[in-house]
Amino acid sequence: MKVGIDAISYAVPKLYMPFSGRWAERRADVFAQGDVEGLVAKVTSGIGMSQMAVPDAHEDIVTLAANAVRQLMERRGITLAEVSHVLFATEGGVDHSKSASAYVLGLLSDYFSADAGHIASVELKFACAASSYALEYAQSLIRSKMASRKYVIVVASDIARYELETAGEYTQGAGAIAMAICENPEIVEFDNGPMACASADERDFFRPLFRDFPTVDGKYSVEVYLNLVERAFSRFAQTHAEANKTSVRDILGQSGALLFHVPFPKMAEYIASRIILPHFQDVRAMTPEERVVAERDFRKSQTFLGIFAEKVEPSLAISRSIGNVYSGSLPLALASLLTQSTEQIKNLAGKRTVFLAYGSGATARVFGGKFTSSLAKSVLPLPLSQIERQPVSLEDYERLHAHSEVRTERNGDAMVTPLGLSVLKPRDEFVYLGMKALPVSELGLRLYKYQS
Ligand code: HMG
Repeated sequence: MKVGIDAISYAVPKLYMPFSGRWAERRADVFAQGDVEGLVAKVTSGIGMSQMAVPDAHEDIVTLAANAVRQLMERRGITLAEVSHVLFATEGGVDHSKSASAYVLGLLSDYFSADAGHIASVELKFACAASSYALEYAQSLIRSKMASRKYVIVVASDIARYELETAGEYTQGAGAIAMAICENPEIVEFDNGPMACASADERDFFRPLFRDFPTVDGKYSVEVYLNLVERAFSRFAQTHAEANKTSVRDILGQSGALLFHVPFPKMAEYIASRIILPHFQDVRAMTPEERVVAERDFRKSQTFLGIFAEKVEPSLAISRSIGNVYSGSLPLALASLLTQSTEQIKNLAGKRTVFLAYGSGATARVFGGKFTSSLAKSVLPLPLSQIERQPVSLEDYERLHAHSEVRTERNGDAMVTPLGLSVLKPRDEFVYLGMKALPVSELGLRLYKYQS
């Protein structure tokens, strides 16, 4: 049975902050001893980012997810009657108990004026790796015939927020990616077999229940990412090579694309050099420090630059303008790859690909697949250039970052609402209206609607 991704869509905030101009002028003292140009060079070339998405006051993980799923269904012509499950991957849940997928189903049912009562839905969490667990779950449902309808929808939605003026600030971002999983898919067929895994109970990045922002040891998180993804890749490569009577080097050679979790684009260079170098140089006797130097040198070599330009770079384009979308980051790499020119997409047809997921805390999952020979335009995502976006002022960015909400009261009904604080007037999208403050029986209930 062939099972995989049949269609993919994404939704991103309409606002973005460019890492030049006012942001760089204001942050130069904090990050670069007053050197504005040096800071721009560091963020664009050292981190790999040119802009980051900034969620408006009326956007949250639910609105982004509902916008992505709605677009997926409309573009692919999927009805709610054809959906068996909605699996919602996020590390930014909006409630300790209520699944964010319940809010999404409510919005979709209203929008399509269709029953969603038969759809099973759940929220899954493992930092940025939850979407790979959701894809594994979706496949199992279909292969085992436990999915009652044709499609399982996986949606990954997150808002990456760090404290201002910390090194995390330029790795923020927001977005949701929705994928329709089914039999005989149009985009990618997943390998039928176990996903490779490497896990460890780690302290690299987490967000305690009492904090708005993550607790993160940035440099250490990079190290844990590299070690676990390398371990999972080596397990994947060994199993795949044995099963297919091929060499590990062939796996890299046959892959049209290597798709990574991208917390910031430079990370893709670090991990690509980590997994590719051993196929060109014996690294077994090297100390960790020697390995870091060897990888740095390798990243400058023509061999590496050629492989990277062909197999990785096309999947980074959207991330460079959106930033980290946590659980959506690996699917966004696939979406980015599929927004290339028709000619480039045609070149992927029939080629293999490898997905390398990472989630802090920590787990790495590696699995393979093959692009179909059709790759029809109707199932591919829209290029970022076709999405209406505009820059946000530094003042509005900092105000939105502070996450303020106002309390309103009318006829004994009270709300804590972000409305009135939005920079843009919402149009043709799902909107977060606020949280009920009264009556007590509805305290904390979130309200949403579609704004035409
Ligand atoms: P930093 O302090 O900006 O790092 O922190 P840096 O000072 O080492 O600079 C980074 C690169 O910029 C270096 O490149 C510098 O040389 C270069 P390298 O030497 O390594 O090749 N650089 C310049 N380049 C050009 N011109 C210049 C210049 N100056 C310096 N003038 C860090 C970076 C990522 C640690 C920070 O942003 C951070 O803490 N981010 C948040 C955590 C994070 O993203 N971790 C990633 C791995 S963990 C993960 O992926 C999981 C996660 O997504 C969450 C989840 O799973 O839930 C985060």
